[in-house]
Amino acid sequence: MYRFLSAASLAALFACSQTASAAPPHPGRLLASNCFQCHGTDGRKGFEELAGKSSSSIYEEMKEMQAKAADSNIMNAHARGYSDSEIWLIADYFSKVAP
Ligand code: HEC
Repeated sequence: MYRFLSAASLAALFACSQTASAAPPHPGRLLASNCFQCHGTDGRKGFEELAGKSSSSIYEEMKEMQAKAADSNIMNAHARGYSDSEIWLIADYFSKVAP
């Protein structure tokens, strides 16, 4: 009986772990959600749509905006809040969203 129960609970655990591991979200999506207010959810239907743009062009634009005076434009200030690796994650996320 003990053996039967433990096999059954193992099977249940296995089923749960399979459900939990289904399609993890892109690691850049949470960071990118800060952009949705102005650029649209997932970078679609906002002004200056980001969905489907190449990751390198988003990255380059963010780096240019970081280098400009923060008080001259909302994006220049916003871009400063992210490290290089965070910008890559955000850029990679938007590049993989269908426009
Ligand atoms: C408060 C609103 C706002 C938020 C939030 C915002 N942006 Fe912007 N973004 C703008 C505006 C306004 C422009 C246009 C700036 C200009 O052309 O001078 C812009 C322009 C851009 C551009 C240049 C687009 C182009 O084609 O020239 C990129 C890239 C960009 N934003 C990325 C992002 C990313 C990535 C985030 C999130 C980390 C973000 N933005 C969050 C308002 C916002």
